[in-house]
Amino acid sequence: MNYYIGADLGTSALKLLLVREDGQIANSVTKSYDVSYPKPGWSEQAPENWWKTFESGIKELTHGIDGEKIRGIGAGGQMHGLVVLDDSDRVIRPAILWNDGRTWAETDYLNNVIGKKSLSDMTANIAFAGFTAPKILWMKNNEKENFEKISKIMLPKDYINYLLTGVHMTDYSDASGMLLLDVKNKCWSDRMVEICGISKNQLPLLKESYEAVIILPEIAERLGISKSCLVAAGAGDNAAAAIGTGTVGAGKCNISLGTSGTVFISSDKFSADSNNALHSFCHADGGYHLMGCMLSAASCNKWFCDKILKTDDYSTEQDNITDDSLGKNHVYFLPYLMGERSPINDTDARGMFIGMRPDTARRHMIQAVLEGVAFAIRDSVEVAKSLGISISVSTLCGGGGKSKLWRKIMCNVLNIDIAVPSCEEGPGLGGAMLAMTACGAYKSVKECAEKLVTTSETIHPDSTIAQRYEEQYNKFRKIYPAVKELYKEIK
Ligand code: XUL
Repeated sequence: MNYYIGADLGTSALKLLLVREDGQIANSVTKSYDVSYPKPGWSEQAPENWWKTFESGIKELTHGIDGEKIRGIGAGGQMHGLVVLDDSDRVIRPAILWNDGRTWAETDYLNNVIGKKSLSDMTANIAFAGFTAPKILWMKNNEKENFEKISKIMLPKDYINYLLTGVHMTDYSDASGMLLLDVKNKCWSDRMVEICGISKNQLPLLKESYEAVIILPEIAERLGISKSCLVAAGAGDNAAAAIGTGTVGAGKCNISLGTSGTVFISSDKFSADSNNALHSFCHADGGYHLMGCMLSAASCNKWFCDKILKTDDYSTEQDNITDDSLGKNHVYFLPYLMGERSPINDTDARGMFIGMRPDTARRHMIQAVLEGVAFAIRDSVEVAKSLGISISVSTLCGGGGKSKLWRKIMCNVLNIDIAVPSCEEGPGLGGAMLAMTACGAYKSVKECAEKLVTTSETIHPDSTIAQRYEEQYNKFRKIYPAVKELYKEIK
């Protein structure tokens, strides 16, 4: 039996899966790492550490396996992060991550001087602080010396693929989040390249996610895997998660509750939201998708439990929250710990609890955090609805999707069915499936998804709870506009 490696280069951890051609998971390894927050609203990681983690992780993952049977590797990676190398292929500065808000001035310049309409015409998107082009401009404006050293620009998983293959490449789904790609026509936008003061030579080769390049022989030897192993171009983590949850072809939805929270709607045709509140990106199956992204989702629960309550036993905290309390909480939470992207696009926004009373207990606060994230996801779903997209069922993946309570809250806040994937590791499985397609084990990503992806259960909304949440959501959506101006003063 042949094996494929799927990698999920996340923000809090690298997750590696060893997957058999029939989709069975033979082994998995998770290695956590930290994010550094050098200033409020900044977030960085060292690419070299991703590689070190990847190398040691692969050795653990494949221990006891005949390396000759490993036919392909495919990665899904955290999107938008700026990785820059000099002409000796050294990393110039730590990667500036997707949830970094430092580029508010460059984002403002792009949206208001270049103009949202022009950006949308060129790239199908407007500027958000976490996107890559504003970060390039930030380097140009703030780190001139570093900016002048740039020889190669790439995204996080492209750095791993570069060290594996020696080929400077990216895929269309991840490239879409750079604000340098003409998403509709799948090519770099000359004008955006010029606006950022760079040249196309500094940008990676563009490939479909399921196209591949052969591994470098010396790296194959070092990792103990076959010298004929193919490395797929891979995908942004959300597109990879969509593949791994079967969100392929037209009109399907996947919601991910990871460090970020995303609503991913697949399409076989290009389309853009006229207000650009949702991102219009290429998909890893060769099509397109619309996506809403909130910057802090499962990370809100992690923050509240780890840092404030000082516990890592998330499930015990949730045990005290019973069905009859759903939709009746008097505490509300705004989940904007790192500012927010979709749909409010506000780098100054921050987290907030509101409504506490003398009888407020720990469980109310926990519940408010889970509900605040669900309400903020609903904000993106509402934008999709306003575009005429109707979502009646979605898969749910990511760390937060493992909680039965959070699933129930999501299902009732959104008032849709939630299908739970049998394999919880969406991006990792998606990465492996891209490698399988690249190696010819399946004719297309669609065929691979049809054969390999299954769901374990579908949960349905309870009309009484959903009605209570409907009323609460209408209150939730009034909180941010009421405090929006204040955020600018307290930052
Ligand atoms: C998507 C986004 C996040 C990261 C998280 O636009 O910024 O979902 O990809 O890894």
